[in-house]
Amino acid sequence: MKRNMNTASQPATLERGAHFASSEMLAKRAGKYIAGGVVSLNRKVDPAIVFIRAQGSKLYDADGNEYIDYHAAFGPHILGHNHPHVNAAVLKALDDGWSLMGSGTTPWEIRLAELLCEAVPSMSLVQICNTGSEATAHAIRLSRAWTGREDIVVTLGGYNGWHNEVARAVMPGLEETGPRVSPGEYAFTPLSAGIPQSTQRRVHVINFNDLDSVEYVMRRYPVACVVTEPVLQNIGVVPPQPDYLPGLRELCDGHGSVLVFDEVKTGFRAALSGYQSIARVTPDLSVFGKAIANGYPLGVIGGNSEIMQLFDAPDPTRRVLIAGTYNAHPLPTAAAIATIEYLQANGGEVYTLLERLSARLQAGLEALYAEKGMTATVSRVASAFCTYFCDHVPVDWHDLAACHDFDIDRRFRRALIQRGVYQFPIPCKQGSVSAAHSEADIDQTLEITREVLAEL
Ligand SMILES: Cc1ncc(COP(=O)(O)O)c(C=O)c1O
Repeated sequence: MKRNMNTASQPATLERGAHFASSEMLAKRAGKYIAGGVVSLNRKVDPAIVFIRAQGSKLYDADGNEYIDYHAAFGPHILGHNHPHVNAAVLKALDDGWSLMGSGTTPWEIRLAELLCEAVPSMSLVQICNTGSEATAHAIRLSRAWTGREDIVVTLGGYNGWHNEVARAVMPGLEETGPRVSPGEYAFTPLSAGIPQSTQRRVHVINFNDLDSVEYVMRRYPVACVVTEPVLQNIGVVPPQPDYLPGLRELCDGHGSVLVFDEVKTGFRAALSGYQSIARVTPDLSVFGKAIANGYPLGVIGGNSEIMQLFDAPDPTRRVLIAGTYNAHPLPTAAAIATIEYLQANGGEVYTLLERLSARLQAGLEALYAEKGMTATVSRVASAFCTYFCDHVPVDWHDLAACHDFDIDRRFRRALIQRGVYQFPIPCKQGSVSAAHSEADIDQTLEITREVLAEL
């Protein structure tokens, strides 16, 4: 049953052209004027649907099809699309004459910084930028300035943005990456042309949950920082083993390296104080984005005040540049303040709701896979979830690449989309539940999943 405004239900086997005619026309037009047809590589997917409206838990495309959305634009919409409280704050900011002043500070960025420092105990000071990529770039530069070293450690299967130091393949083929090495490191497989060899040589790629490899690299190179998502959420939901994050903390302390948690995905989704509060590990620097402004563009870097003070070091040779015409733009700032206040309200009751909805989805999916006798495992951290078509939750990229059935996953996602459940159309990408999803949405999702599984 693909939800369509004109037709109550349609079979999943309809020709694509019949479903997505307007989307396809628009996609062709995009290709005439936009290099590659999309403005972010992750949006180059099949089916190439052009969405024109979103509200709460729903997406609507150019052909009038309605979808229950679990893509959530890669995670930001923790409260759902066009949340009334967030929209009202943005509209009020415009009405009140908030503008990009571009000179001096503003009361609203002070308020946001205050809320962030209160929410995340490891952040004594913050800086506000526009995207997660900017924030990770700042974190790496700060770490290098702090330590006087240049090498960095990143994780295979992790994503930390599009800039030179971190743009390595997120899901490289194992034939390219080679077999598991531990202790050891993998070649930097660039995700982009144009990354200098000199940069690649400074970046050491190790597997997640592999402390031996982190130590191996630290013994051989002057490591400025370890940058890691605390839960790998760009290859589904791969959680850390209990000793991993505490072990990273110890290794960084022992070798004088900066520990950077990239909480762009986990931040404010796992908890208001970040996944670090769940793991009980204090990073030196944290990076946030996505869910902190419920869909408005905002990035944050924060942490230890001594390191953060380098943004204002009296010695210009130690000072790290913070600059950006649009930093703390009033509209995303208003959205972030409204989002955080909403997340904080009534003792954080929204997290109880998110947990209830997400647990209902997980339990329902698990029951359906069991009923069908499928080998499938649902991995979930708070409102982030992923089904792995294998018998366990993977511990790292090698484990996942070897055990997951990518073909079933691709067909599964495609059939769900055909029937009105929108998940990222690429295997092992994370789904996100929002506070705008209702129990009815979850139950309808499960009903559609049952139909899809019957045909897989
Ligand atoms: C963990 C993580 N870090 C950093 C980024 C980069 O954020 P942005 O796309 O806002 O630049 C992303 C984006 O998906 C991400 O998932």
